[in-house]
Amino acid sequence: MKGLAGKRVVVTGGSSGIGAAAAQRFRDEGAEVIVLARRPGPGGIACDVSDRDQVQQAFALVGDLDVLINNAGLSVRNPALDIAAEQWDEVVATNLSGAFWAAQAAGRLMLKGRGGVIINTASTNALVGYRYYADYNATKAGLVALTKSLALEWAPKVRVNAVCPGYVLTPMQEAEYTPEMLAEVNGRIPLGRHAAPEEIAGLFAYLASDEATYFTGAVIVMDGGETAGSVISGPGGPGGPGA
Ligand SMILES: NC(=O)c1ccc[n+]([C@@H]2O[C@H](COP(=O)([O-])OP(=O)(O)OC[C@H]3O[C@@H](n4cnc5c(N)ncnc54)[C@H](O)[C@@H]3O)[C@@H](O)[C@H]2O)c1
Repeated sequence: MKGLAGKRVVVTGGSSGIGAAAAQRFRDEGAEVIVLARRPGPGGIACDVSDRDQVQQAFALVGDLDVLINNAGLSVRNPALDIAAEQWDEVVATNLSGAFWAAQAAGRLMLKGRGGVIINTASTNALVGYRYYADYNATKAGLVALTKSLALEWAPKVRVNAVCPGYVLTPMQEAEYTPEMLAEVNGRIPLGRHAAPEEIAGLFAYLASDEATYFTGAVIVMDGGETAGSVISGPGGPGGPGA
């Protein structure tokens, strides 16, 4: 991918799942990758993104950077009536505030330096409703609005985009599924499967590269067609495979 070799790339939550795949992809492109995580591996920086002071300290250690992949996030399955204050606060502090603190720290460095690219990991949960993830969905929708606002404020030096993955099969998620559950979810996705973390990582690499220099303020959905239709377009609906 054009223009990634030698770039300094920060990946939050880069120790597992999509973040780990992103860190690997940028390394493969010849970039220097710095992982910010609560338990980073060698060469990474320990940072709980929900703690603004820790984020600022981490970015002081990072110094100049070219790309921020805002990836750290968590979701907890719970009916809205059962969401406790602690859960709400943690999900908002991590997914939305944490992404903002990291973007603010990175943006400050990029605007006074050589510019850069910020990619926020939202979700299809930002775009359509899903039961039992009210807090998560609200934070991801917030990230989309944050992306557009920062893109306006920081153009043309810093490009800010959001990626909305659909179902991505990370090792942790795979462990939570029975084979029947996995097959059931896959059956509702037009492409018939989950994404691999590496497919999302490829989109991050593209958006950060010099092939994507006209993208800013964009919200890019990569979901195997999951949100392309409506209930009526699902399997068995009029015109659907079962019609
Ligand atoms: N897996 C999916 O289906 C899917 C779909 C859409 C969006 N996403 C988003 O992609 C991102 C990565 O998710 P994943 O599926 O790879 O899950 P994951 O749990 O494997 O990765 C999340 C990472 O964030 C880190 N993290 C969580 N809280 C943190 C904190 N306070 N400070 C620092 N790091 C923290 C975790 O340690 C972990 O490394 C998340 O933002 C998630 O919401 C995932």
